[in-house]
Amino acid sequence: MSRRRRIYEGKAKILFEGPEPGTLVQYFKDDATAFNHKKTGTITGKGVLNNRISEYLMVKLGEIGVPTHFVRRLNMREQLVREVEIIPIEVAVRNVAAGSLAKRFNLTEGMQLPRSIVEYYYKADELDDPLVSEEHITAFGWATPQDLDDMLALALRINDFLTGLFLGVNLKLVDFKVEFGRLYEENGDMRVVLADEISPDSCRLWDIETNKKLDKDRFRHDLGGVEEAYQEVARRLGILPEGGPTDLKGPEMVQ
Ligand code: TMP
Ligand code: ASP
Repeated sequence: MSRRRRIYEGKAKILFEGPEPGTLVQYFKDDATAFNHKKTGTITGKGVLNNRISEYLMVKLGEIGVPTHFVRRLNMREQLVREVEIIPIEVAVRNVAAGSLAKRFNLTEGMQLPRSIVEYYYKADELDDPLVSEEHITAFGWATPQDLDDMLALALRINDFLTGLFLGVNLKLVDFKVEFGRLYEENGDMRVVLADEISPDSCRLWDIETNKKLDKDRFRHDLGGVEEAYQEVARRLGILPEGGPTDLKGPEMVQ
């Protein structure tokens, strides 16, 4: 097996050089962190499930015309993606009060928000990813006004589509976070596309009837049943790996 060049290693994923120029291989780890690395752990099978779940959601979003970095899944833990220049902004969209929004404004968790709220966080571990305004983003040049327009429009379309998709499998999309990148075409054109991943690591998903949390909050707050929650989301979406939950370890990383 030839050694691949590691381009970047994050908390939950590794990016390797891809087989062709302009592509990368995105490898999903079982590692989990929360509260900016203050809590670390492993969620067995998470990488396999998030690879599948993110593939499924990105393909569906692609079908309604949301441009994404996703090309194809390669194996249990890896997918081929287009190389993009990541815009250092996390875009959070919220439908229901939870997490840091509930804390900041002392809202009752689970309260339906009067409308979807979009927030921007500057991606900087050393600063704990601070909440920022459009003014900060454009003044400091993290994104242009045009990038921001594209990101906002895409984030709202993603929210509308995923809210319906999850509702169809009895899940409430409470909130989620997405990241975008600039994709440069060969002719020099640039497009803002959805990048990174969409998975129970980056979404809050509650059972529609019971409000049971089926996402990374189970890990963040030591609620137990973490692996089962990720499996349940995949099961409801109809995409549990063929061997079922016993097949979740997936191949070890070879490089
Ligand atoms: P928050 O309520 O903690 O700000 O999180 C909002 C949403 O963003 C929630 O679905 C979890 C997701 N998220 C990430 O994907 N990465 C992060 O680093 C944080 C803080 C939140
Ligand atoms: N992703 C962040 C971390 O690694 C926080 C979170 O998801 O809660 O610490």
